[in-house]
Amino acid sequence: FKWWIDLGKGEKSHLEKKFPSALIVGVRKGGTRALLDAIALHPKVRIVRRETHFFDSNYTLGFDWYRDQMPEVENDNEIVIEKTPAYFTNEHVPKRVYEMNPDMKLILIVRHPVYRTVSDFTQVYYNKLEQNKTLPVLSVEAFKTNEAGIEKINMEYKPMTNSLYDVHISKWLKYFDLKNFLFVNGDVFRANPLRELRKVEEFLGLERSITPSQLVFDYNKGFFCFRKTTKVRCLGLSKGRKHRSVSEDVVAKLSNMFEEHNQNFFRLINRTYSWE
Ligand code: A3P
Repeated sequence: FKWWIDLGKGEKSHLEKKFPSALIVGVRKGGTRALLDAIALHPKVRIVRRETHFFDSNYTLGFDWYRDQMPEVENDNEIVIEKTPAYFTNEHVPKRVYEMNPDMKLILIVRHPVYRTVSDFTQVYYNKLEQNKTLPVLSVEAFKTNEAGIEKINMEYKPMTNSLYDVHISKWLKYFDLKNFLFVNGDVFRANPLRELRKVEEFLGLERSITPSQLVFDYNKGFFCFRKTTKVRCLGLSKGRKHRSVSEDVVAKLSNMFEEHNQNFFRLINRTYSWE
């Protein structure tokens, strides 16, 4: 497997394309874009800006295609990171990543599953609104009554199943050790990005380089924005938008239904989150 490819025909260019050594695999709506933009503040990190979806939908396009999506690097000590949140929940991806690189560093940013679900639902809602489609109602979509008349999670509804972190991580743990993973706390990252970024730097084997002055809190947006050189960049309007309102009743139901999955997730990853 060739990791470094010459750009020119025959001639070696000083700019070369390099496959990623780390993937932000998810979770959708966990803060994946903000984390990628934030880690890109590090001088040794090169990122793939768009989601390549290589290991899920574009796998048949092959490794040459994947390499073409990569940014150019100047030095061997620069690392490339890609993020596609659909990787975390796609059952084919863990094996494919493992076969490409069993040492791949995997970053998963998780967030309180109830708020993640509401965020996911909000995104689906606005997508449907844009496409003039029938608008979904969370309390209708999220639950299904079983034969015994008990209300359960609707296992066909992605905004719900995407929050079953235990179900998805167990598929990854068939191929990768926990030490391949860094679990980032999305709720902490959002309020205090540097705390989580220090862990990412360490996990990637990079020296501490991102500084507080590169993280600029924007009071209008209510989120941190990022300064690479002089310009401060915030994420787009679809990130950090107002959630669809959900009744306390539905929130309580969601909390109850996720509880067992959360506990199972904590056991699998050997760490807990305070998701009361
Ligand atoms: P909300 O829109 O629900 O607030 P992803 O990029 O994986 O889709 O995640 C989107 C989420 O990132 C947003 O969810 C937001 O809460 C979170 N986030 C964390 N830090 C952020 C930042 N600095 N700017 C914007 N969104 C941020």
